[in-house]
Amino acid sequence: MAREVFNSKMGAIAAAAGSAVGLGNIWRFPYVLGENGGGAFLFVYILFTFLIAVPILLSELAIGRRAGKPVLGAFKALAPGTKWHLIGYSGVFCAFLILSFYAIVSGWTLLYAYRAVVGELAAISPDEMTTLYNHTSSDPVVSIIWMFAFIGLTAFVVMRGVQDGIEKYSKILMPMLLLLIVLLCIRALTLPGALDGLAFLLKPDFSKLTFTGIFEALGQAFFSLSIGMGTMTTYGSYISRKQNLVSGGFSIAGLDFMIAFLAAVIIFPCAFSFGISPGQGPGLVFVTLPNIFNQIFMGRAVSIVFFVLLSVAALTSTISLLEVVVSFLVSERGFRRKPASLLVAGLIGLLGCLCAFSSTIFSLFDNISANILLPGGALFIVLFIPHVLGKEAFRSELEACGTRQRVFGVLYFVIKYIVPVAIGGVLIYQIVNWLIG
Ligand code: TRP
Repeated sequence: MAREVFNSKMGAIAAAAGSAVGLGNIWRFPYVLGENGGGAFLFVYILFTFLIAVPILLSELAIGRRAGKPVLGAFKALAPGTKWHLIGYSGVFCAFLILSFYAIVSGWTLLYAYRAVVGELAAISPDEMTTLYNHTSSDPVVSIIWMFAFIGLTAFVVMRGVQDGIEKYSKILMPMLLLLIVLLCIRALTLPGALDGLAFLLKPDFSKLTFTGIFEALGQAFFSLSIGMGTMTTYGSYISRKQNLVSGGFSIAGLDFMIAFLAAVIIFPCAFSFGISPGQGPGLVFVTLPNIFNQIFMGRAVSIVFFVLLSVAALTSTISLLEVVVSFLVSERGFRRKPASLLVAGLIGLLGCLCAFSSTIFSLFDNISANILLPGGALFIVLFIPHVLGKEAFRSELEACGTRQRVFGVLYFVIKYIVPVAIGGVLIYQIVNWLIG
């Protein structure tokens, strides 16, 4: 079967951005930041994103493009006869774990879009909004039905192949989402008490930052950029040779950060204004945002558009996760695309049921994948660059399209020394903490 290649030059970069931007930005980032005390977490998160995560993103894209194969095949092709391809297996496993809880939250997003359409979110008080979320999250049957709807959508797109699905939608709908978010920011900042929320977000109080907070900031930076498990390696293999990876990578990270940051600029003023605890956990976006829709002109229409766009953002991310597993089965195990997509979707649905029945399992999958598996995978990916791929091969991927030598020099230094030490340090410290704690 011919390999899909994106049509336009920007196609694969747009799709990679579509993978990055998702619930990680709008659902996960604000809730993890809220649980970790606000401003100081933001500061560390920015540092991790641009200093640690972006170089890993570029490494993944370069490895994928060099090999021209999805993650497992990429490592097999570039390091034949070694164990490096185990990174690919860990990625496939991690995609399963992430999808199982991510699909539940995606299902809630669809459900909220439906609720907005039928008017269930209109004119209810902030307290009732919280009750509504609590009912939803503790009702496994409802969660499971909407989760399956969402997985079905994802499988439908992946089944038809990468090229004519993802690219088209990402390019139109993501700018729309960004625009809507900017408009909502303006409303959020003019709510009474909004400034307290803004201060929570922007004023770093380092006494509130624990080591666990630093550890979670690292995991969130990886989760948000979809790195550490081969998604971006797979997408890198679709990127044309004419594309400058460095500028592409920085654009993805910049866009991804901006959307996460602006989501927080809406959510925290809203939380403080409506008396909702910023540290209330995974429900944060669902109990804060709908309140704002009740305070704006044409709020119901806006809320419909918002949840639909958020569902689409989630969809471009779940597609990228499912694609990792499906492309593995197709290119390594000789499956056809359609049965592979259906099989994997079914299995993920079953795992998702566990997350729907138990919030402990939900959080466990969330934590293990983002905070352990992604940094672990990223560590190996980043070791692969200097020790296996080699400086010159990496240089030829990055410098080919106009990246300056000096930029490459700095980047290579960061990848070879700073990134592994930072990830290794944070992981080891946290594991020791757990063992003695
Ligand atoms: N980055 C996506 C988000 O922020 C989620 C995601 C998609 C992801 N693919 C991934 C996370 C691969 C980790 C690894 O919503």
